[in-house]
Amino acid sequence: MAAVRPAGHDAEPDPSRLAGSIARRLRQLGGIGQDPGGGWSRIGFTRAEREAHELFASWAGEMGLEVSRDPVGNTYARRPGSGPTLMTGSHLDTVPGGGNFDGAAGVVAAIEAASLLASESLEHPLTLVCFACEEGARFSAPCLGSRVATGQLDRAGLQALRDAGGTSAFQAALDCGLRPQAAEEAVWEPGSVAAYLELHIEQGRVLQEAGRPIGIVDTIAGSTRVEITLTGRSDHSGATPMGLRRDALVAAAEVVAHVERAARRSRSAVATVGRLEVWPNVVTIIPGLVRFTLDVRDIDPLRQRELVDDVLEQASRVASRRGLGVAVRPLHDQSPFVLHYRVREQLARAAAEVGAGYRVMTSGAGHDAGYVSAVAPTGMLFVPSRDGISHSRDEWSDVEDIALGAMVLARALHRLDRTPEAEA
Ligand code: HGY
Ligand code: MN
Ligand code: MN
Repeated sequence: MAAVRPAGHDAEPDPSRLAGSIARRLRQLGGIGQDPGGGWSRIGFTRAEREAHELFASWAGEMGLEVSRDPVGNTYARRPGSGPTLMTGSHLDTVPGGGNFDGAAGVVAAIEAASLLASESLEHPLTLVCFACEEGARFSAPCLGSRVATGQLDRAGLQALRDAGGTSAFQAALDCGLRPQAAEEAVWEPGSVAAYLELHIEQGRVLQEAGRPIGIVDTIAGSTRVEITLTGRSDHSGATPMGLRRDALVAAAEVVAHVERAARRSRSAVATVGRLEVWPNVVTIIPGLVRFTLDVRDIDPLRQRELVDDVLEQASRVASRRGLGVAVRPLHDQSPFVLHYRVREQLARAAAEVGAGYRVMTSGAGHDAGYVSAVAPTGMLFVPSRDGISHSRDEWSDVEDIALGAMVLARALHRLDRTPEAEA
């Protein structure tokens, strides 16, 4: 890894010390929400997520930053100053059985970047942020904390979102000691953020295959998610002739196979049926009802929705041919985000100054940075994921890569501090 002094920095960051500090922080974090069989489940709006935010708050407190928490659980750590703030951070919640780098790498890198900048005089305040409930795993809709903070989700929206057990995001936030009834107090003042940067693991294989340690994101894919319910007839698995069945699972299987075919035909979309439930789910009963989710991601908003429509048309064809009912419930619909090109340019210059090879790329995964880009000039940088594995206990990124990313992050923040046009 290149150990190049970022220009304009007094103290030369020692990459191996930085990597050691990152490793220690990730190990500390890894003690929260770890599953017995490996993997982590720091699910959004649970005690485990809160505990992780408290650890972040303790790190920030040790650095003399002013820590605060908003009513929906976003945690901020601010270096004093007046006027619009520079901001960097990510999230600490995980998917069930996920890894300890998704989100965590960006939060730890933000802490280390603030340390690297501690001896620098900045014109803007610097705020580190840990957004709450970024993963869409529990409530099928992502980035709840950052969407509330940026005025894109309100109290009613939190009440409308429910998990598989029927608990609303609002109630779950209450249950872990938050104040979602005061969600509007969490909304940022317009213009209060001068620029936001997020470091994140790539969660794909592009950087590893390109042999580049840094990715600079230009577009974050959009996501359209629906729940499809096929209703047939439960019946005896032995006494019912094949020709008289209204088997909801066989119908669902036809639709799921179509999802893969349609996505493979697309130039840029990906589509996933991640959750499928069968009723009554008994060996000797023909499935009478199947409910499953569809998650379509694309960097082209039109193709994204066209693929969803294509799948829904297929579901309707299969249902009518097999004499089944079909119902569709929208879960989430978000267009792709194009990130601020001047902020991207500052990231590229910072990478060059640090001596880190980079490539500009899209993000197939969704991120808080997408929603923040609606209210502030936003940039995103990636560090490589080993074999591109993520949302899995086998997720891994080298701390040396995260350290290099933190150096680029610090350098980019320093550049943005001096680049008023990024506030344009
Ligand atoms: O699901 C996603 O795209 C992200 O990991 N929240
Ligand atoms: Mn993430
Ligand atoms: Mn994730």
